Amino acid sequence: MTVKSIIISRPDDWHVHFRDGDILKTVVPFTSKFFGRAVVMPNLTQPVINNRIAKLYRKRIIDAVNSEHQFSPLMVFQLTDNIILHELVCGFENGLLTACKLYPINKVANPYYGVTDIKKIYNVLSVIEDLGIPLLVHGEIYEKYVDVFDYESEFIKYVMIPLRLQFPKLKIVFEHITTKEAARYVLDSDEFVAATITPQHLMFNRNKMFIGGIKPHFYCLPLLKSIVHQKALLDAIKTGCDRFFLGTDTAPHLKIYKESSCGCAGVFSSPIALALYATVFEKFDMLKYFEAFCSFNGPKFYNLPVNKNFIMLTKKENIVCDSIFCCNDKLIPFLAGEKLSWSASVIK
Ligand code: NCD
Ligand code: ZN
Ligand code: ZN
Repeated sequence: MTVKSIIISRPDDWHVHFRDGDILKTVVPFTSKFFGRAVVMPNLTQPVINNRIAKLYRKRIIDAVNSEHQFSPLMVFQLTDNIILHELVCGFENGLLTACKLYPINKVANPYYGVTDIKKIYNVLSVIEDLGIPLLVHGEIYEKYVDVFDYESEFIKYVMIPLRLQFPKLKIVFEHITTKEAARYVLDSDEFVAATITPQHLMFNRNKMFIGGIKPHFYCLPLLKSIVHQKALLDAIKTGCDRFFLGTDTAPHLKIYKESSCGCAGVFSSPIALALYATVFEKFDMLKYFEAFCSFNGPKFYNLPVNKNFIMLTKKENIVCDSIFCCNDKLIPFLAGEKLSWSASVIK
């Protein structure tokens, strides 16, 4: 039987980059139209590292939401060597803060903006473990001796396993997983470990980025991997495990910074995110897991209620727009100009 339409509880996006300023104003409505909540990444030029910054950023996001959209941003602190513990605890207790984010150790040269040695934040991790605040990890290890395609699998060995031995009850979201090793790691873990999966890592493998010319709009971090890994992500969803959920990692960069001799990593998927997921879930015969992946598994892990309203996905031709004007330049949506076979609409 061919499915013509699906109605699901309003989903959430557990991993978005809204940026700031005019980009924020341009991109927020694409998410707020279809998603009830979004976990907003803190990696701004001035990262979200305290309640004052988080509160002001949250306000700028809310101001960018169309008045008819029902949407709440969920704020995240970026962990740093110098994170102030009582700020974090207050933020969580006041309901401003939903999670903490750990970017690859050493990646951030400035210790005010990142963690240079995980042991420096063991006291913080111990408190967030006790309070049940989720730790969101960009699970890659950026080391000179590691091949770029192995950053994620090496991260499991050198960071994740020791971290979980030290803090077994720390709730961890392994963000945007891309490898069979990460999928296996999450499946073999307990209720304290979950993962988000992006549409691009389900739909494509690295051939897409390289064959017929280099395609900067397929360049994101973690990189697209080989077909073996793509298949492992699909198989992980097909187990029905409720610790995999939707996180687009929509990461807009202006066209000049994407189509450049040294282009930025990030796929801007929010304008068509749900259509992308519906397309890939149908293609690989996983539609029976679609609503749980989009709308139930995330709230369950984050201990939040499922959204009340509903979204409809309909099987009808949907041509992705070529570009969106922004900051005297453009944002190029993922799969710009291509035809998708699903469209999303809001049920009023
Ligand atoms: C993200 C960004 O542009 O901020 N880029 C990406 O390719 N995913 C960073 C990130 O999610 O790690
Ligand atoms: Zn990331
Ligand atoms: Zn991201």
